[in-house]
Formats: sequence, structure tokens, C-alpha cells
Amino acid sequence: MGKPKKAAVIGGGVIGGGWAARLVLAGVDVAIADPDPDAKRKLDAIMANAERAMARLWPGQTIGDPGQLTYEDSIGAAVSGADLVQESAPERLDLKKRIHQEIGEAASDDAIIGSSTSGLLPSDIQAEMPHADRMMVAHPYNPVYLLPVVEIVGGQKTSADAIAKAMTIYASIGMKPVHLQKEIDAFVGDRLLEAMWRESLWLIKDGIATAETIDDVVRYGLGLRYAQMGQFMTYRLGGGEAGMRHFLEQFGPSLQWPWTKLMDVPDWDDDLIDMIASQSDAQAKGKSIHELEEIRDNNLVDILKALKANDWGAGALIQNPAEDRVKSGDQRLPDGEVLETWSGRVDQNWTDYNGHMTEFRYLEVFSMATDRLLVWVGGGPAYVETGSSWYTIETHIKHIDEVAAGKPMRVETQLISHDAKRIHLFHKLYGVEKGNLLATGEHMLMHVDMTAGRSSPMPDAMKALCDTIAERQAGLPRPDEIGASIGLRQK
Ligand SMILES: NC(=O)c1ccc[n+]([C@@H]2O[C@H](COP(=O)([O-])OP(=O)(O)OC[C@H]3O[C@@H](n4cnc5c(N)ncnc54)[C@H](O)[C@@H]3O)[C@@H](O)[C@H]2O)c1
Repeated sequence: MGKPKKAAVIGGGVIGGGWAARLVLAGVDVAIADPDPDAKRKLDAIMANAERAMARLWPGQTIGDPGQLTYEDSIGAAVSGADLVQESAPERLDLKKRIHQEIGEAASDDAIIGSSTSGLLPSDIQAEMPHADRMMVAHPYNPVYLLPVVEIVGGQKTSADAIAKAMTIYASIGMKPVHLQKEIDAFVGDRLLEAMWRESLWLIKDGIATAETIDDVVRYGLGLRYAQMGQFMTYRLGGGEAGMRHFLEQFGPSLQWPWTKLMDVPDWDDDLIDMIASQSDAQAKGKSIHELEEIRDNNLVDILKALKANDWGAGALIQNPAEDRVKSGDQRLPDGEVLETWSGRVDQNWTDYNGHMTEFRYLEVFSMATDRLLVWVGGGPAYVETGSSWYTIETHIKHIDEVAAGKPMRVETQLISHDAKRIHLFHKLYGVEKGNLLATGEHMLMHVDMTAGRSSPMPDAMKALCDTIAERQAGLPRPDEIGASIGLRQK
């Protein structure tokens, strides 16, 4: 099974809202059931966070056609017709059992039913429900719209077939499903977190470190390593050239030392709670939860982008449905004389010290516009894989007006001329709010046989599409800027 057409999200709080945002942005229709009258307001805030994060992840690119989000009054109505049901209700076994009973009664015959529980056993949740063979734990991490991992844990009644389907479904919405071979309380992630949490509580209670010191050790040190290599790969490198075996020989004996209080838990009394809560308040320095969420998401996006640039870890999973469609060549030349080849906003990272879009980003925007035109004539990424491509051989950008961060922009493109091997393009970048011309870009591109390493004629079908554009645009005036050179005007 590929991407679900419809998903049901039962419980739309922090986690359910995150699931809804991920699914909708992946193009899946989502029906939500949540009895809280305030559920819509809370979910809108999560959706806004997710949309802002996506705009940062894909600056200046469309994210694709989002799915529809609807609210239903009952679990049955939400679940009806859904391929994937994701329960994210409060962490109480009796409540989850009741909810899964209702889900099982309404679910379609092949729906996958996941629970976001952080630690309850799937065998307990599914014990009495209908269709228990398709129920499993699918434990995500907050924020679900950015963090890809989901722990898949089957219970005694879960079928191997359902697990296999779930692995495909969650992967289809950009997640990294990891299958645990046996069910265990708290699964893998929360066990690791619990170990660190217990140790941290002791370090605070014993007066060794504050909340801030402990967080600094994580975020300036081990946390940076974990995000890209995890625990075992990091230790492998810790062993130097001799690798993991040497690491184990060197540090194995220290496991016997009294380095941990893991099996002891400090008394959970008011003094400890006050100490941790006030240290945490001090650490936040007056920033609201919403402000901290924005900081977290911006940082996560930029970490994911860095990992994507290295095609590594969570970064290698990032998908943009619109980009996938471009890759598959499933984009047709639109009708009409005016070709809008790009639209988007000035990303926060695109500005210079004046607070305006910085100069090299204009080229980036024009280059995205050129790429779109090439896709339309059949020269996109799928074509490049055949061994031919278009190379830009000359560019002239004219900067006409300034534009600030966050402002919407659009590009119109004119095919000035073309022959068998070359296309001469002219882009106009406009501000959407005032309709003012911000910049123009004139570009000459050469068709190249990359295997032979030299220019070559484009295929007939591509040439025919260029001819079509030229015919449609024959009535457009030739822009004055074409062929202009840079220089001081002679008096
Ligand atoms: N918060 C996290 O970091 C995190 C991470 C991973 C998994 N989880 C798990 O996700 C689940 C949800 O946690 P959360 O943090 O989103 O909690 P939450 O309190 O933010 O959201 C729970 C939502 O469920 C709704 N709800 C209550 N009764 C319901 C019912 N009968 N039917 C439908 N909805 C109902 C509530 O109105 C609320 O909006 C829990 O099982 C939790 O263990 C939480």
C-alpha cells in the first residue's frame, strides 16, 4: 500500500495535531475526532507552526497540494473510509481501549490502526477490539511534522501483514518507521530518554548540576552527535582507527563503576518538583512556549537541511510532494501566453544586512524558474538521468527594487529565442503585493550531452514544446533589457 488517501486522527492535541499537519502537508485528507471544544483552535496553531516550518524547509517552493482537514463529531465518522487511523488520545489504558473498540467497529477492512502511545503495550490496548490484527503501536516524536521516526510495535494479535503494510504507509508520508521485534513497555526511544531523565533528576537533586547545565552538556555536546550518528556509530568513532572493538575493550570495564543511579529514583516530592520547575523557568528567560516552539522548529529545519545537503540520516528522508511530481516528469506545459514559472516568499534566511533579499538569492529564484520551464519542455531531473541536460552559459541580472523577508513574489518567463542547441530566456520577478518589478534575469542555456561532454541538439519533442511556447508568446514585446551591457553611460 502506498500513500493513504484518507487518514483519521483520533485526539488532536500536541501529537494528534502533529500527525494531522504531517499528513495534510503530504497531500492526505484527514478527518479529526476530538471532543474538546477548543480542539480546532489548538490544531490551527499546530498547523500554522508546521506550515511555517515547511516554508523554511522549502524556501520559495510549492509544497504540493495539501489534503483536506475536516472535523467529525464521532470516532466512527472520522474512521469511516480511512486507510490509516492514528489514535493520539490521553495516555490512559482504559480510555485507549474504549477508543480502539470504536475504531475497530468503524474501520474499513484493510485500514491500518496505529496508537501513538508513549509506552502502553499494544497487546493490552488491542485485547478486546475488533480487527485487532491490524492494530499496533506507531509511536512518533514531537513535533511529528518534522521528526520522522515512528516506532512500530505489534501486539500478540497484530498480523505480520499489517506490520509490513504499516511500514510502507508511514514511509510514504516521509517517516522512518522502525519495527521492534518484541513489545516492551516504553519501546526503545522512551527507554533511552527515561534513563537520561532519571540520571538528570539525580544530578539536580544531589546539587551537582542545574537544569541549564545538564541541557548545555546535551546541546553543546552529545546532542549534536546524536542527531547525525546516534549512539553506536558515535562510539565506533570514539574507538579511533581500531573502531568499535577497541572502544568496547577500553570502556567496557567502566560499566562496573558506580557511574549511574539508574535503578534508583529520587523521591518525587514537592521540593524536587519546585527545584526543577523554577530552574526550568529561569532557563526559559521569559520566552513563551509558543516562542520556544518556533525556535525549536527553526533549528530542527536547519539541522534537517544540513543533513539533507549531506544526503544523511533524517535529512535524506525529506520529501516535497511537488518536487516528487517534478522528478517523475509529471508536469505539463500550462496554456497561455504568460508563463508563471515560480512563486514563493522571501525566506528569513535570504536577507542581507539591509533586511532585503540578498543578491545571490535572485539568481536562486531565477534558477528555480528556469528549472520549472525545463521540466515543462521535458528537460527535468528524469531527463537528466538519461545523460543529457541544459547548462546555463550566460546570465545577466538587473536589480530594480528591494524586497523584504516574508514578502510574496512571482516570476514570469519569456522564451526570447531558441535553436536546436540553445534557449534564450528572460525572467521578470515581481512583488505580489504591489505588483512592482523587482528584478529581471536574462539567461542563455546550452543543451549538453553529458556523456560525450559537449553540446548537442535537443530531442525533437523538446524542440516542439519550445516552438509551442515561442508561438504562444509571439505577441509579447521584446524586453528593452535584452542584450544590454553593464557600463557607465557616456555623457
Ligand atoms: N507529547 C508528547 O511528547 C508525546 C510524544 C509521543 C507520543 N505521545 C503520546 O501521544 C498521545 C497523546 O498525547 P498528547 O501529548 O498529544 O496529549 P494532549 O493532551 O495534547 O492531546 C490529547 C487529545 O486527546 C483528546 N481526547 C480526549 N479524550 C478523547 C476521546 N475520547 N476521543 C478523542 N480524543 C480525545 C483531548 O481533547 C486532547 O486534545 C499519548 O498517548 C501520548 O503518550 C506524546
